[in-house]
Amino acid sequence: MIRDEIQEILISEEQIQEKCKELGKQITEEYDGKFPLVIGVLKGAMPFMGDLTKRIDTHIEMDFMDVSSYGAGMVSSGEVKILKDLDTSVEGRDVLILEDIIDSGLTLSYLVKLFHYRKAKSVKIVTLLDKPDGRKVDLVPDMTGFTVPDAFVVGYGLDYAERYRNLPYIGVLKPEIYEG
Ligand code: PRP
Ligand code: MN
Ligand code: MG
Repeated sequence: MIRDEIQEILISEEQIQEKCKELGKQITEEYDGKFPLVIGVLKGAMPFMGDLTKRIDTHIEMDFMDVSSYGAGMVSSGEVKILKDLDTSVEGRDVLILEDIIDSGLTLSYLVKLFHYRKAKSVKIVTLLDKPDGRKVDLVPDMTGFTVPDAFVVGYGLDYAERYRNLPYIGVLKPEIYEG
């Protein structure tokens, strides 16, 4: 069982679902009648995109973007490579970027700049998790689900070597898993 590889459940399935309801309500109020373009950042944002958008009670358009940081590892240049671009134009649109976690902030600061450059009307960020201790650039999300400590968190979209994304909760990985 995967549960045996998890040291501690940090945020339960129930807490996540409750938070999706709250954020969904907030997004509904803020974007009612605006037909925002909600952009999920693959792959991590996938479960959150599914659960949160179900709680938005106004019309939205959904699109996805897949990006990867150059030089993944200790030193990141802050440059981001587009693996899959949007199907839709953001010009004149109210854009809401949806993420699973903000760590260094590099991925999102790149995307925010890109969408402004492409003439979006507004660009906002909703993230399930924020890890402020990891920040390398100034970036403050507009809506945050939970703030997490600088621990190895997995689940609900967050992976370690592409595993654990399918957990319904956010957990801390046992050190022996990534220490080999
Ligand atoms: C992870 C996470 C965020 C990003 C956050 O994605 O899902 O998108 O890193 O890190 P940052 O704030 O330091 O940029 P990753 O690039 O690992 O791709 P994935 O979503 O496919 O796992
Ligand atoms: Mn991601
Ligand atoms: Mg990843």
